[in-house]
Amino acid sequence: MKRSILRIAILGAMLMSTLPSRGTAAASGTAKKSFGKTPEGEAVELYTLTNKNGVEASISTYGGAVVSLKVPDLHGTFEDIVLGYDSVDGYVSDKSYFGALIGRYGNRIGHAQFSLDGNTYTLAKNNGQNSLHGGIKGFNKVVWTAKEIPAKDGQALELTYASKDGEEGFPGNLNVTVVYTLTDSNELKIEYSATTDKKTVVNLTNHSYFNLVGVGLGSGDILKHVLMIEADKFTPVDAGLIPTGELRAVAGTPFDFRKPTAIGARIDANDEQIKLGGGYDHNFVLRRKPGDGLALAARVTEPTSGRIMEVWTTEPGVQFYTGNFLDGSARGKGGVAYAKRAAFCLETQHFPDSPNQPKFPSVVLSPGARYHTTTVYKFSTQKGREVTIHKSPSH
Ligand code: BGC
Repeated sequence: MKRSILRIAILGAMLMSTLPSRGTAAASGTAKKSFGKTPEGEAVELYTLTNKNGVEASISTYGGAVVSLKVPDLHGTFEDIVLGYDSVDGYVSDKSYFGALIGRYGNRIGHAQFSLDGNTYTLAKNNGQNSLHGGIKGFNKVVWTAKEIPAKDGQALELTYASKDGEEGFPGNLNVTVVYTLTDSNELKIEYSATTDKKTVVNLTNHSYFNLVGVGLGSGDILKHVLMIEADKFTPVDAGLIPTGELRAVAGTPFDFRKPTAIGARIDANDEQIKLGGGYDHNFVLRRKPGDGLALAARVTEPTSGRIMEVWTTEPGVQFYTGNFLDGSARGKGGVAYAKRAAFCLETQHFPDSPNQPKFPSVVLSPGARYHTTTVYKFSTQKGREVTIHKSPSH
């Protein structure tokens, strides 16, 4: 292609990304339908939030999971870009945490144990010797109470759950509220808050698995997606994927995503940390200062569809996981088998094992204080080249 034509193509693409998407002009609003029942007979609902551009997010009251997320590509064609199941049954037997809310503690706590004020708390071991994602019955396996609430700039759904003192071994009655807002600027905003009546630890996140091509048959792996993470350091792990406590520079390692790089470029590198994770399964230390508020954490671009996803968060870390443990045994929406590296996760969080790592930012919540964090997944499109968008999401 001649230079001038190329320039016009880029300009055209840039212009298209600012125009309203084609696609079916669905009216914005929130719809609710039955998603089935839990084995105990509890009714589960599926709420579908639609914004003025036709972007759609479906959220299940079981696990508060994002079941589907339909966003346009460069040509206005909508695809569902998250892994999930067609009904609640899939989520009941799921072991991969597709789309779910994670709590009380996102990621691992070493030896399933921690101490607070001289008391030792023992948690369920559901991942070797460790506790993972809240235990055997984490927040991903409970039915949340849902309420549609007004939002200035889109559609919002509030989910609440009261976690009992001692649940999965954690101290304190914890009242949790999560608000999902689908904004008219094509953002899925998640606000987490919690209060406790006894000192405890909290680390909430969402475990969506993304493939920006779409998650239907033939979508393939995510190795050609291009990723940038705003992190100079990451937390290396031991064989049980528990952080060693070191904050290691990403420079000169396969963990350097400071410049946009294909996810697959170094995923099989001859590197001790890559081998331990079976690919990427690591917490990145976001480049941020206290008081930064909502800041850009990561940007993923998918070159063929032109879809771009940015992750903004108030959290200090993000777990980048490349679906290394997916093995095709999970049959998702439409019966599609989800294979290894069919999707990636960017789970905003405090660092894994923080309750046992005095040098990591604290995850302790005391009575009278309020846990409050915000994460925004922002979608846009652009063709052919990397873009820098530093406009803060609406919040
Ligand atoms: C963890 C992985 C785990 C995955 C699904 C990620 O957050 O870091 O090790 O396999 O969640 O459970």
